[in-house]
Amino acid sequence: MQDRLGREIDYMRISITDRCNLRCGYCMPECGVPSVPHDMILRFDEIVGLVKIFCSMGIKNVKITGGEPLVRKGAVGLIKDIKAIDGIEKVSMTTNGILLSKNLNALAEAGIDSINISLDTLNRQKYLNITGFDGLNTVLKAIDECRAFPEMKVKINAVTMVDYNRDEICNLADFAAGVGATLRFIEMMPLGLGTGFDGYSQDEIIAVLEESYGSAKTINDKAGSGPAKYYSFEGLEGRIGFISPMSHKFCGSCNRIRLTSEGLLRPCLGSDVGIDLRKPMREGASDEELAQIIHDGIVNKPEGHCFETTDSLMSKIGG
Ligand code: 5AD
Ligand code: SF4
Repeated sequence: MQDRLGREIDYMRISITDRCNLRCGYCMPECGVPSVPHDMILRFDEIVGLVKIFCSMGIKNVKITGGEPLVRKGAVGLIKDIKAIDGIEKVSMTTNGILLSKNLNALAEAGIDSINISLDTLNRQKYLNITGFDGLNTVLKAIDECRAFPEMKVKINAVTMVDYNRDEICNLADFAAGVGATLRFIEMMPLGLGTGFDGYSQDEIIAVLEESYGSAKTINDKAGSGPAKYYSFEGLEGRIGFISPMSHKFCGSCNRIRLTSEGLLRPCLGSDVGIDLRKPMREGASDEELAQIIHDGIVNKPEGHCFETTDSLMSKIGG
């Protein structure tokens, strides 16, 4: 369906938990997130029921996010059930990769179409510094194992931070090219703990890449279902993506909505608007009534992000 500005909404991100097994400084407080009572979190059958309604309204692609989605027991089964919904074309997941290895076979069997793995550094000590966990080798092993499943697309998401990983921009590009994954740089968003960090802009990163690989060329085809813009470089195999909400605001072509683990419909990442679906659903609202609430939420999707006035943690909304 379209919102009031004519944006076609066909993609939803579902955060299935705001817990995480890492503590990335720009995302998760050191002490973790306050634990939410079990009954405030949507059950998987409730999520599937809601996705069926969203799907009837035009949602075709679903991304499962967290926190870290794989810390919630049964996450792979949920992916399988969502993938089986008539009308859902693609199901993907964003993960930090720590628990990926042991779930990989099951994810492939569930029919997952793509996996986005967060990786900001290839240096073991830096990885420990930023995430609070000595997990780099675990993630690298999982990325390597993904190569046994060529039908499953792998993307690597890197957030850059001033004084932290400028020197890794090319390392990450070489690494991704070597394992056949697509690397995407995400600009740091001043949201939650991200406000305490300065990131590099898309143009600054392109300048670094051009020094090593020659001039950048825009790729115009629409790869993926999101806001990433892709570039190729003469001296580098494959493509590099940029998700640049700060320097190249893409709200005008935004196609997405979000559902939090507590059942709030969030029409925009950069706005505090949240519409409770859990309460009416548990009070017995019919699918038609829920569809009407969702419809009103989508129609009124904010025109653009306003990170300055948003106080949500990224771990709650799932990126
Ligand atoms: N700005 C940009 N990206 C962020 N992520 C988490 N917090 C922020 C932020 N403030 C990224 C993670 C992960 C994705 C889901 O969102 O690194 O790759
Ligand atoms: Fe869309 Fe909101 Fe993201 Fe802008 S900030 S691109 S409107 S979800």
